[in-house]
Amino acid sequence: MFLFFPLTFLCFGTGAFSKSLFTPCKLTDLPCIENSLNTAIPQIFGGIPELGIESCDPYFNKNIQINVPNLKVQLFNNTIMGYKTGKLSNLRFNSDLTNLSVDINYPEGELKATGQYDMKGRIGTLPIEGNGDYEYIAGQFLLNLECEIEKVKRNDGKTQMILKNYKFVAKPLTKIIYNFKNLFNGREDLAEAVRKFARENWKAIAELVQDPIWDASFTEMFKNINKYLKNVTLEEVFINN
Ligand SMILES: *[C@@H]1O[C@H](CO)[C@@H](O)[C@H](O)[C@H]1NC(C)=O
Ligand SMILES: *[C@@H]1O[C@H](CO)[C@@H](O)[C@H](O)[C@H]1NC(C)=O
Ligand SMILES: *[C@@H]1O[C@H](CO)[C@@H](O)[C@H](O)[C@H]1NC(C)=O
Repeated sequence: MFLFFPLTFLCFGTGAFSKSLFTPCKLTDLPCIENSLNTAIPQIFGGIPELGIESCDPYFNKNIQINVPNLKVQLFNNTIMGYKTGKLSNLRFNSDLTNLSVDINYPEGELKATGQYDMKGRIGTLPIEGNGDYEYIAGQFLLNLECEIEKVKRNDGKTQMILKNYKFVAKPLTKIIYNFKNLFNGREDLAEAVRKFARENWKAIAELVQDPIWDASFTEMFKNINKYLKNVTLEEVFINN
């Protein structure tokens, strides 16, 4: 979703994965780059078998651990979906193209996850405990992502780009639905108190627990993106002014 190399079409006609798949943009023409990216990203996240890139939407993750003060959560067998729906805006590069910053906007109801959970602890003064199936449906989300771009000279003199260290701020903008089955081993009175709390405090809960989930997601997406970047050069993607 923060990828910036447009894959505009595949040359199935020739049976080859052509090099000229990209809409080259001037580095100063940010709307051009943003546009290309927003077209390309859903395809890249959908997987490109020719380049050995698997789909990362949906993304399957075996185990995510969340340790925050007073609360331990483990999420198993997670299927996370909706990355493809992120739209980029406010794209910026620094002058030597070593850093980029971009906003990613997810529409209401597109980011979703399902799996199993195991949790124990408290949020504030409210005890919370359970294990079973869970479902998560996000509202609108706004992410700001910053990352470094490493540039490596290849043997042919061209430049390969690699996305490196990143940091992000994730802001949930509208109501999130949490559905955790079998809270307190089925004790309805206790479970209802937690569900009510979650309905009223969806934002604070997201802010408390979300970072490990985004981290796992970004690690996976960066892996895919960097596979893709092995097959394109900076010179193909950015044309001179
Ligand atoms: C995760 O899925 C596997 C395979 O379906 C299953 O054996 C395992 O029990 C699941 N994990 C949890 C914590 O439910
Ligand atoms: C580049 O990005 C990294 C990772 O987000 C950040 O730590 C660093 O401060 C940024 N550098 C510049 C020059 O923006
Ligand atoms: C991309 O992959 C194709 C097929 O393997 C290859 O012909 C082409 O040279 C690669 N492009 C780059 C820039 O490495």
